[in-house]
Amino acid sequence: MEESSKNAGAGTCSQKQPAVMMELKNVYKNYGRITAVAGVSFQVMQGEIFGLLGPNGAGKTTTIRMLNTLTRPTTGELYVAGYQVAGNQVEVKRRIGVVPQQNNLEKELTGRENLILHALLHKVPRSEREKTIKELLDYVGLSSRADERVQNYSGGMARRLLIARALVHHPPVLFLDEPTIGLDPQTRRKIWDLIQLMNRDGMTVLLTTHYIEEADSLCHRVGIIDHGRLIALGTPAELKESLGKYCVEFLNKQGTERCFFHSRSEARDYAQEKDCDTVVRRTNLEDVFVELTGREARELAAK
Ligand SMILES: Nc1ncnc2c1ncn2[C@@H]1O[C@H](COP(=O)(O)OP(=O)(O)O)[C@@H](O)[C@H]1O
Ligand SMILES: [Mg+2]
Repeated sequence: MEESSKNAGAGTCSQKQPAVMMELKNVYKNYGRITAVAGVSFQVMQGEIFGLLGPNGAGKTTTIRMLNTLTRPTTGELYVAGYQVAGNQVEVKRRIGVVPQQNNLEKELTGRENLILHALLHKVPRSEREKTIKELLDYVGLSSRADERVQNYSGGMARRLLIARALVHHPPVLFLDEPTIGLDPQTRRKIWDLIQLMNRDGMTVLLTTHYIEEADSLCHRVGIIDHGRLIALGTPAELKESLGKYCVEFLNKQGTERCFFHSRSEARDYAQEKDCDTVVRRTNLEDVFVELTGREARELAAK
């Protein structure tokens, strides 16, 4: 695969350009009459945290499952860690960690036992197993609770154990499907910290989310996906700047109206001319979604 000139900005010291760690080329996935993914193409570079942001049913999980070898595309090509996914499932699986949306831990087993089981499945050498698991439990902050059954874990603990489990075989690429869904804001931040820590340690991360602020604050680049199509791709700053950095928001008879400006002074001038209450604020990723889809961001955030 070609090398890109785009720097992921994820703490690599070498001058070498980052490699392409994932690539989708015009990927479609149909389930009968339903087109879950409709011609998606993008690349994820080594060292990036890349976010797929979109509402429920947009095609995020289907995309991640195709990259994870769990679902075959109808047409199109996918590459992970230098391998075409079709025909190289074993090679790809060795190089990826997967944190699914649904907790599929063994609830009758302890946290440590869950990790041992995964290490056995991934044939982690016996000599490394114990040390790796101890280090990972420490890494995700579960050492003191490692010998309790998972059924006693809170949602946040279970999510951290799922992350540790995904790392047992030292993959260079990590997939997280809605990593903070259903977690309270404080626990969500802890998971963000953990994702950033892993990324600083060299991991390439692809995550899906319908939380706008998660994509905005965590991801180097974001792909906005809607009805199976990638409708925008760029850094959060690029996406916001494409509309205009500043937004003037006001209510009219049709509902909330937003106008975008490249400078704060232009936005202020416009707001002063309006004969109604206005708010001048920075443009956010919700605005990008609303402008591109014509739908309210509620649709993204509420599900
Ligand atoms: N196994 C399946 N069989 C039939 N339809 C599916 C299946 N998986 C997903 N879909 C449909 O594909 C679309 C995209 O789903 P999904 O990828 O799960 O979206 P998201 O993760 O963004 O919520 C939805 O319309 C969903 O109902
Ligand atoms: Mg999903």
